[in-house]
Amino acid sequence: MSEMAAVQIRNLVKDFRGSSKKESAPGGSALEVPGPVTGTPLEVLPPARGMVRAVDNVSLEIAPGEIYGLIGPNGSGKSTTMKALLGLVRPSSGTCSIFGRDSSKVDSRQDVGFLPENPYFYKHLSGEETIRFYGRLCGMKGAALRQRTLELLDLVGLEEAGKRRLGGYSKGMLQRIGLAQALVQDPRLLILDEPTAGVDPIGSRQIRDLILTLKERGFTVFLCSHLLEQVQEVCDRVGIIHRGSLVKEGRLEDLISIEDQTEIILRNATPGLLDRIQDLAHQEAGVELVRTGHPRTTLERLFLRETVQRDSGKVSEEREDESKEQSP
Ligand SMILES: Nc1ncnc2c1ncn2[C@@H]1O[C@H](COP(=O)(O)OP(=O)(O)O)[C@@H](O)[C@H]1O
Ligand SMILES: [Mg+2]
Repeated sequence: MSEMAAVQIRNLVKDFRGSSKKESAPGGSALEVPGPVTGTPLEVLPPARGMVRAVDNVSLEIAPGEIYGLIGPNGSGKSTTMKALLGLVRPSSGTCSIFGRDSSKVDSRQDVGFLPENPYFYKHLSGEETIRFYGRLCGMKGAALRQRTLELLDLVGLEEAGKRRLGGYSKGMLQRIGLAQALVQDPRLLILDEPTAGVDPIGSRQIRDLILTLKERGFTVFLCSHLLEQVQEVCDRVGIIHRGSLVKEGRLEDLISIEDQTEIILRNATPGLLDRIQDLAHQEAGVELVRTGHPRTTLERLFLRETVQRDSGKVSEEREDESKEQSP
């Protein structure tokens, strides 16, 4: 990435003290990690005895203005990666930086807003009071803070509910207050840990639309989720993390397109026409060639292939099934 990355994570490893029952890192002997999808192979030592590897040599970069989605099953290391980036957990090895500033330094957090996985809010405060509370924590006050609070309530669609106590808010409304809180000091980067977990489809849609609005305004967003549809709808690039390793990464468009196939979507085509379709489509009256291009797999299928099926060794067969399914 030529311009300064909003997020740079290099060869991040995080080991936690774990119970002896727990499986240790994938591998177990000193391993030549094949993996990080970006970056060079690096010799990584196995976790020390009694330690569990939560993040295993993850490298990724996010450009300013990008929306990057880290997806993976529960326990795959998403939150730990985010916390390392935020300087909330110390890497066992590797480095993280935000807009060029090392995550171990306090000033790296100046330009970041964070919505944690299970945000805790004071239920007796109103939405408005909550935003003001976080604003004051960030050193804001007076008319500027009042103005900012109103802007944020408006942005997250809670201007009506601003005077109500959070005790009466739905999960979706709480997540939106959480987003407003993360935005209070006008950061350039937003880190959202499972922003729609436990939120109903309508609430999820509101949050998704909000993320898209933020993108239009030039924010960089790093989100993680196990809810794939959401990720598919908002992210420019995604990384799939499995057992602590980044097993796949790329532009969403590229990841879910099947390069060696072409689909033709026709309107009003008869079954007989389908056999001769390639040549006839352009000549046939009443037939509309809606779109041509590479048919897509879904992010969900890709996700399952890279995680569950990777474990059961079914990865390559599944690709074939997929192409059969997609053929006309
Ligand atoms: N503070 C901790 N102490 C010990 N183990 C932890 C701690 N935090 C996370 N882990 C372990 O690290 C792994 C990854 O966790 P996490 O990053 O929370 O995954 P995800 O966010 O993808 O669900 C899990 O096995 C989890 O049990
Ligand atoms: Mg998590």
